[in-house]
Amino acid sequence: MKEPVMPGAVPNPLRNILDRRLPRIAGPSVLVLFGVTGDLARKKLLPAIYDLANRGLLPPGFGLVGFARRDWEDQDFAAEAHEAVRQHARTPFREDVWRQLSEGVRFVPGELHDDDAFDRLAETVRELDARRGTGGNYAFYLSLPPKLFPTVVKQLKRSGLAESSDGSWRRVVIEKPFGHDLESARELNAVVDDVFPPQSVFRIDHYLGKETVQNIMALRFANTLFEPIWNRSYVDHVQITMAEDIGVGGRAGYYDGIGAARDVIQNHLLQLLALVAMEEPVSFSADALRAEKEKVLSAVTLPEDLAQGTARGQYAEGWQGGAPVVGYLQEDGIPPDSTTETYAAMKLGVNTRRWAGVPFYLRTGKRLGRRVTEVALVFQRAPHQVFSHTDIEEMGQNSLVLRIQPDEGVTLRFGSKVPGASMEVRDVSMDFTYGQSFTEASPEAYERLILDVLIGDPPLFPRQEEVELSWKILDPIEEFWTKNGRPEQYESGAWGPASAHELLARDGRQWRRP
Ligand code: BG6
Repeated sequence: MKEPVMPGAVPNPLRNILDRRLPRIAGPSVLVLFGVTGDLARKKLLPAIYDLANRGLLPPGFGLVGFARRDWEDQDFAAEAHEAVRQHARTPFREDVWRQLSEGVRFVPGELHDDDAFDRLAETVRELDARRGTGGNYAFYLSLPPKLFPTVVKQLKRSGLAESSDGSWRRVVIEKPFGHDLESARELNAVVDDVFPPQSVFRIDHYLGKETVQNIMALRFANTLFEPIWNRSYVDHVQITMAEDIGVGGRAGYYDGIGAARDVIQNHLLQLLALVAMEEPVSFSADALRAEKEKVLSAVTLPEDLAQGTARGQYAEGWQGGAPVVGYLQEDGIPPDSTTETYAAMKLGVNTRRWAGVPFYLRTGKRLGRRVTEVALVFQRAPHQVFSHTDIEEMGQNSLVLRIQPDEGVTLRFGSKVPGASMEVRDVSMDFTYGQSFTEASPEAYERLILDVLIGDPPLFPRQEEVELSWKILDPIEEFWTKNGRPEQYESGAWGPASAHELLARDGRQWRRP
């Protein structure tokens, strides 16, 4: 965010350069983690906290408090956290970093509805303030199913933990799903809003913490090359793909009844669409960025015929990584008659001057051919072809592919002359790959997002308006699907149901084969 310049002040370019090079370090604070025994905490959150400490981005006055229904002492939680860090941290393990971090680790055993437990939590953070100098600044991270949010938020209020004094701060971090539809998202928000002011609420969409997702803005707005062609005059269509090779795994309880569209289109994919389609924000302040994303989300249109413009599927048995796998309905914990989709595709429009008439095709699925997330802008064909030896049908359309993961980078595909005596043109690729261009490895999304919470920097966190706009897009589709039978089966390891391929074929297009 740009520093405000006082009227008449001479901007000092050197100072700005120095400022940018200084790492952003969190101030004294306590992170209270609810749901410490869950998968997310073990695989992502605890390792990310260690990685931040290891990079020197947490202050000496930092405390980490776990809260759960376990009969643990501080050292038991510290041992669990140690194990999680050893297994999943991105950066090498350093005994001195861990020792320093673990001195601020506390555990509060208790039930979420137990007043005493929250009173003990209040005592624990006060003790950390006194002993570790955490400054009375608390972030409450709710890594819990949303149905438990109201209980926790009310307890935070009752125990006085939600109230700040003497310039200290309180923040609450909530994980998706932000509701099940528009109505429940509003109800959920009302609960949180009753206790915390909007600027203290940090909604996590971990895709926004990914370097490659933030790079969409750098690519578009730090360069002159792409923006002139980033519109309906040049772009034929956009494909946004988030494919996973894994199945539902141990998450049956969460996933069944939610499905692919609610799980990732409502949040990750629509956020990608917003970043690709939005206008340039006047700054990267949270307000400016969110305002542009909201404008785009409110301009999204649905296909007139939802039967033809959407597709959904459910994985059947097949293959993953060379091994046979069972279908969704045979997975542990999934009812054999479940109609939950594990694949969803849809054709959306963006009704703005820049994008009118350009389809945005979104697709996501589990147990697909491989794990890949990408955004591809596919450009129109050249209006006239002079190359008589080239069958232009064989030549692809130019495309710009933003490779979000796993092979992070950007690919530009265009036609090039094949060496030889004739003028034959074939598609070639020009690649930017993070690993080759930068020596520093990208931080994990959760490192960036937890640091932003502790610093109080909100641009990468969607606000409630975005959440509601996304549900407004999805609700009619979900309703249509609920009324219209079962999802189509697709073979595990393949690229989704036939209806998804027909969706593009009807428009004379095809899905990219990542
Ligand atoms: C989560 C979804 O938000 O994103 C999961 O709930 C999904 O179903 C995960 O597997 C994928 O995240 P990533 O960062 O591996 O693409």
